[in-house]
Amino acid sequence: MTVIQSPRPRTYLMCAPEYYRVEYAINPWMDLTTPVDPELAAKQWEVLRETLTGLGHTVEVLDAVAGLPDLVFAANGAFSVDGVVYGARFRFAQRIPEAEVHRAFYRANPRRYRFVAPRETNEGEGDFAYLPRAYGGIALAGYGFRTEVAAHAEAQEVLGRPVVSLRLIDPRFYHLDVALAALDDERIVYYPGAFSDGSRRVLAQLFPSAVLADEADALAFGLNLVSDGHHVVLNAEATALASRLAAAGYEPVPVDLSELKKGGGSVKCCVAELRG
Ligand code: ARG
Repeated sequence: MTVIQSPRPRTYLMCAPEYYRVEYAINPWMDLTTPVDPELAAKQWEVLRETLTGLGHTVEVLDAVAGLPDLVFAANGAFSVDGVVYGARFRFAQRIPEAEVHRAFYRANPRRYRFVAPRETNEGEGDFAYLPRAYGGIALAGYGFRTEVAAHAEAQEVLGRPVVSLRLIDPRFYHLDVALAALDDERIVYYPGAFSDGSRRVLAQLFPSAVLADEADALAFGLNLVSDGHHVVLNAEATALASRLAAAGYEPVPVDLSELKKGGGSVKCCVAELRG
């Protein structure tokens, strides 16, 4: 039997969508002909922030930077485990300067974080998930579209945790965090169709009690969720997944992020967990 954990207070990092627009297309969701409504985006982002603080979590906010429209997707800036922060190195030129904004945030607080600059291309928590109580603490890592496998090995050295490489095969699910999420300290939810056959077998072996999502859940950005071990904050369109999570003992908390979806992201993309 799976025991559902009680919520653990978390610290998150978000960045307001002040300069968020769809100005270039680097994933299949971004369409230059469908404009973002900046006011609505700001409102939706604010509701997400208030939802997280309302659940008892701390949200730190990174200053938005003009010219970096995707900085709102704060999850991509780094991956931290027990105070060690493995920095990001973005795949596409348009996002490369974001890494420096995140680096400055962590470097400003050296007592809390030890920041390690990466050599390899990786997009932070977009492609890394951490399960503190699975196998003594392991990271799952995606590759195939953005993050290089070499970065998984580098992260393993930096963080001193096993890093399991998983190959993403569907361009619509170009980051790990749109295909898989940690529900609590040891359990995951994922859409098997986003992964290669070998990676599916690895996931089935390591996580036999995972919640499985289907293509419709993944297309509704349902897997791009933030869970505190009990409350699962997820995109409001993912109603079927919400019911499945409720049946598994979690408490779904839907939020509408239609404007952020135009950039190819939802809840999790906007939120980095600070594991200080
Ligand atoms: N437009 C951004 C990109 O393509 C979206 C990033 C979404 N972030 C995420 N963690 N999946 O890079």
